[in-house]
This record gives sequence, C-alpha cells and structure tokens, in this order.
Amino acid sequence: MKVIKAKDYNDMSKKAAQIIAAQITLKPDSVLGFATGSSPVGTYQELARKNQAGEIDFSNITTVNLDEYRGLPQEHEQSYINFMNTNLFDHVNIDKANTYLPNGMAEDPEAECARYEALIQELGGIDLQLLGIGHNGHIGFNEPSDRFEKATYCVSLTERTIEANKRFFDSADDVPRQAYTMGIGTIMAAKKIVVVVSGEDKADAVKKCIEGPITPSVQGSILHLHPDVTFICDEAAYSKLK
Ligand code: F6R
Repeated sequence: MKVIKAKDYNDMSKKAAQIIAAQITLKPDSVLGFATGSSPVGTYQELARKNQAGEIDFSNITTVNLDEYRGLPQEHEQSYINFMNTNLFDHVNIDKANTYLPNGMAEDPEAECARYEALIQELGGIDLQLLGIGHNGHIGFNEPSDRFEKATYCVSLTERTIEANKRFFDSADDVPRQAYTMGIGTIMAAKKIVVVVSGEDKADAVKKCIEGPITPSVQGSILHLHPDVTFICDEAAYSKLK
C-alpha cells in the first residue's frame, strides 16, 4: 500500500488526476472505475482541465461507477449518473454511451446486480478504480458488516451514511434507504486502485484502513490485500497515521 501525503484538497486532487491521466496516456482505451461524493470532485475538475488543454483524450475511455442510489430517477439532481454528468462527463470528450452506472430504477434488483456485474466482466474488468472512504471506512456503499460481499449487490444504507449524505438532500428523510454497489470482490479485482481522502473527520477511517486489522467492520481495510493501492491523503486526513 502506497500512501502519498498531499498538502490540501487541491494538491490531493491534482495528484490523483496525474495518476489517472498517466493511465489514460498509457492505455487510451482504459476502463476507469469512478466514485461520487465530495472527495473526487477536484480530481474530476483537474481531469476536465487536462482534457480541455489537450493533454488527455477520453474518446476511447469507458467508465463504470461504484454505485447508484436505488429508487432515484436518472434526472434527479442527486442521482449519481447526474453527478457524473455534471462533474465530469459534460466537460470531457467522452462518449456517454461508454459510461455505465447501476440503474437505480431497475424493477428487479437481483437482475440489475447480475447485469451490472456481468457488464464489468464483459468490459474486461476495471483498469483503475478511484475510491473515496466513508467515515465508517466504507468503500462504495459496502457498509460495516460481518463479511465482505463478492459482487454487485443491493444494500441498505446505515444511519451514519444517511446522516453524512443528507447534506445533498432537503432532509435525512429524502435520502434513499438503499443503493446498488459494486461488491468488495468487484473492487478488489480492479488492476489499480487510487483512494482520495481529505479532512480531519476522515483521519480515524484512514488510520483504521491503513494501520488497522483487516476486518469487514471496516470494509476499506481489505485494501491491504490488493497489490496496487495508492492512498492520497491531505494533511488533515493523514494526521493520525503513525
Ligand atoms: C461514492 C462512494 C462512497 C464515497 C464515500 C466518501 O460513490 O462510493 O463510498 O466515496 O462515502 O464520500 P465523500 O467523498 O462525499 O466524503
């Protein structure tokens, strides 16, 4: 596990974008796994800037996202597909037909999970997966549990995650209770993983993931077992590491 200390959020974002840009340059038809939330927004801005400056080309890139709320239509402001369009896809020369997320409105959740998992396999797997971490150490929506899930599944969100995500909705009551998420097995099969973390409120989660034992009660701790993981932490998120 590599840990890179960044000065602040901006520096963290630039460093992450540099790694993703290198991936795109070395393999222009990469399959990139993307995340939503506050952590990667600056990374997406920097990738869009690089694309507009002609430094990187998204025309042959395919993307798959980690997760999507269950029950939010695509047009909903807080759907993750809308997040990806607004924060990245609308600003780069990607073919949107090659951008994939779970379908939050699918009628049959089990079939949707199987479809999404099969799609990732058909694409040949993920070359680089970008992750954020939740305060409880979750990655994707893999919440603290007594086991690690292998493949894409439909999950009930914890109160802590609902509380953390209510900032994007009118109230906690409006936060969907379920989401589709890649399983830990799906994430761990990515060839390369980059984790962006910022802020003091994430310092405990970072410490548990990087220095703690591997346990499903801190799902991000599994990353220890991956051969190519880079954490990019700003100073505050890094502050509790030995
Ligand atoms: C988002 C995701 C989540 C977030 C995590 C951190 O697609 O899968 O695991 O990465 O909740 O969220 P932020 O970055 O908003 O603190």
